[in-house]
Amino acid sequence: MVSSDPSNHNVSTMAKSSTQFQRNKPFLFLSDGCLFLGGAFSALLIVWGFSSFTTPIPTDNPNFGSVTTKITDAPATSSSGPDLRFDPPDRTFYDDPEMGYTMEKKVRNWDKKREEWLKHHPSFAAGAKERIMMVTGSQPKPCKNPIGDHLLLRFFKNKVDYCRLHGYDIYYNNALLHPKMFAYWAKYPVVKAAMLAHPEAEWIYWVDSDALFTDMEFKLPLERYKDHNLVVHGWPHLIHEKRSWTGLNAGVFLIRNCQWSLDFMEVWASMGPQTPNYEKWGQTLRSTFKDKFFPESDDQTGLAYLIAIEKDKWADQIYLESEYLFEGYWEEIVTTFENVSKRYDEMEREASGLRRRHAEKVSERYGELREEFVRDAGRFKRPFITHFTGCQPCSGDHNHMYSADACWNGMLRALNFADNQVLRPYGFIHSDLGDNGVTPIPSH
Ligand SMILES: *[C@@H]1O[C@H](CO)[C@@H](O)[C@H](O)[C@H]1NC(C)=O
Repeated sequence: MVSSDPSNHNVSTMAKSSTQFQRNKPFLFLSDGCLFLGGAFSALLIVWGFSSFTTPIPTDNPNFGSVTTKITDAPATSSSGPDLRFDPPDRTFYDDPEMGYTMEKKVRNWDKKREEWLKHHPSFAAGAKERIMMVTGSQPKPCKNPIGDHLLLRFFKNKVDYCRLHGYDIYYNNALLHPKMFAYWAKYPVVKAAMLAHPEAEWIYWVDSDALFTDMEFKLPLERYKDHNLVVHGWPHLIHEKRSWTGLNAGVFLIRNCQWSLDFMEVWASMGPQTPNYEKWGQTLRSTFKDKFFPESDDQTGLAYLIAIEKDKWADQIYLESEYLFEGYWEEIVTTFENVSKRYDEMEREASGLRRRHAEKVSERYGELREEFVRDAGRFKRPFITHFTGCQPCSGDHNHMYSADACWNGMLRALNFADNQVLRPYGFIHSDLGDNGVTPIPSH
């Protein structure tokens, strides 16, 4: 499954201006309730925005005296975070005997139900609008590839690292929730169940097991998606004009926890192997997207179909992201790691505040500072997500377009490239991306 648009081969397109965002008509097409905390969220963003401009950049000689003064002056923290022990007896959707988690059970009025739940759990209301829950998973059985389980562990470690750095929850599923929804269809019952299990989360962030974060600092620009319910990497012209099944990639997506998404997933999943129309959908998808080379109906082409053919119904709520590597194709990325690392080293020598040692918990602050310097770095910017499409780390049945070595070396280097960003606050580094060994970081 090669998912690369020729126009994106040059990674420098990431740095192009953001004029494309203006195509989104603000405040239109909102389904009721899907964005019910919108006001509070924008207010929060404004406050956050200001505070990030007014905090001075730390210099080489932090004044520890004034830091202590600031700590004692700081207002006592007003919230102690979500209360994990509080679940009042008030009736919520969980108490409704009709409520079910499976794909077959229709959920209605979900936005209202979520809102009610949050009302009864006020400690979760703060920050609800930007709360992200990452969901990923793999098959119930051991991998056929002898090092498959090791690879999956490292891919998962990378996601855990990313979530810890940004305060996200993560759920790893390895149970087949619907016996007939196998392969790429298996994620939809999981995403649906995660929505119902996590009414406190605004977004479910699905990331395939063979995708990893290669920029641990980059944060999803949620503000950009405020009028949309589903975000995937894609290019409108490839879907609408070229009718290419690789005009988007369904391996990574951000989906809002709302009724629209449940309805959409129901329609989307109705093309899957659990339905009597599976074969017919395979034919329809193949005749619509001529470059699709295998006969089975798949979720990626299904999504492209809904965007292209049922455009009026769904497309306005779906954000096709191509300004940065929301999901990037590994073969184009893995050769750039050394040069990107070099560029970041140079930048840090110029801006010494970035090299200051710090606790891992406050890493986001340094990511924010660095963003100023890397925004226009073009192809020298760390790619956000590298997806090993076609490498099949678990089964080992990689696409014959690639050699096993290319896949394996690429994964090893990507995993170590990402891990270097994680290891740094712990004082270590993989000095050779092709080697799992580490050395202590020299103190300046
Ligand atoms: C890395 O940088 C060197 C020197 O600037 C350049 O010759 C080389 O082509 C770059 N490699 C890649 C993969 O971009």
